[in-house]
Amino acid sequence: MVPKQKPLEVWRVKQSLGTRTIGRSILYFRELASTNDVAKELAAEDAKEGTVVLAETQSEGRGRLSRRWISPAGGVWFSVILRPEIELKHAPRLTLVASVAVAKAISKLFSLRAEIKWPNDVLVNGKKVCGILTEVKTRGDVLEFVVVGVGVNADFDVELLPSSLRDSATTLLGELKRHVDREVLLSALLREIEVYYRLFSWGKFDVILGEWRSLAGFLGSGVRVVEEKGILEGTAVDVDEEGALMVKLRDGAVRKVTSGDLTVLRVMKEVSVILRKTYEVEFYNTYALYQVDLE
Ligand code: BTN
Repeated sequence: MVPKQKPLEVWRVKQSLGTRTIGRSILYFRELASTNDVAKELAAEDAKEGTVVLAETQSEGRGRLSRRWISPAGGVWFSVILRPEIELKHAPRLTLVASVAVAKAISKLFSLRAEIKWPNDVLVNGKKVCGILTEVKTRGDVLEFVVVGVGVNADFDVELLPSSLRDSATTLLGELKRHVDREVLLSALLREIEVYYRLFSWGKFDVILGEWRSLAGFLGSGVRVVEEKGILEGTAVDVDEEGALMVKLRDGAVRKVTSGDLTVLRVMKEVSVILRKTYEVEFYNTYALYQVDLE
């Protein structure tokens, strides 16, 4: 029998928090449709900057590109209300701020190397453990508030993820092979968000971008990006100030991608050599994602 998940003890999160803004007020719910939706409603009613909406489970958790985000008990699902004084065009930077904060919190707490995959995924051992959904409210072209929604697959069995996702997604429990103290994790996440959000507010986005780049293990690799308008393949060379991905195509041209799904294509030189020896075939494909295509 699967043991029932113990509800989050918000007082324990508060005890170890020590932040000035982020998480000073935490609204906890057993179940919500989506923490982002409630955070947006509260922000529209003047909730303070740093207010956190936290739910044990979400029935209609949302991901990027209007996808469903599976949110069973044992995850850490929350949204933070931010009121940055920035131009609307710079709001996507907050996704980078949050992804650096999450990767740092996970690496510091556990003996795991967390990486970032463009645009907003945090990976452990090459699989996604966290997604971030940033939403904004505007009046004309003025930014009123930002809601940063963070979903960490923390203390639940990988089997609770749909089988179609299990090749690309995992949980901290699955990687660590031990239970995760969700209160300690949430407290660490909120602290790191405060650290990086403060840096951001001080105009130090360049420092955060530097950290983002150093955590983005895919930079320099072959990638395939599925955009709304088509698919492109090339080498991921950088991310610009607004979080857009720069992809160098085979003809040398550099394309800027602002939205899409990224797959990292690993160069499988070793496999190529083995195959040549064993099958004496020509190996044409330089890039492959855990698969070898022979032509
Ligand atoms: C993604 O990778 O597609 C983003 C996933 C974001 C999920 C979080 S869970 C908390 C918050 N509430 C939501 O409905 N979505 C975000």
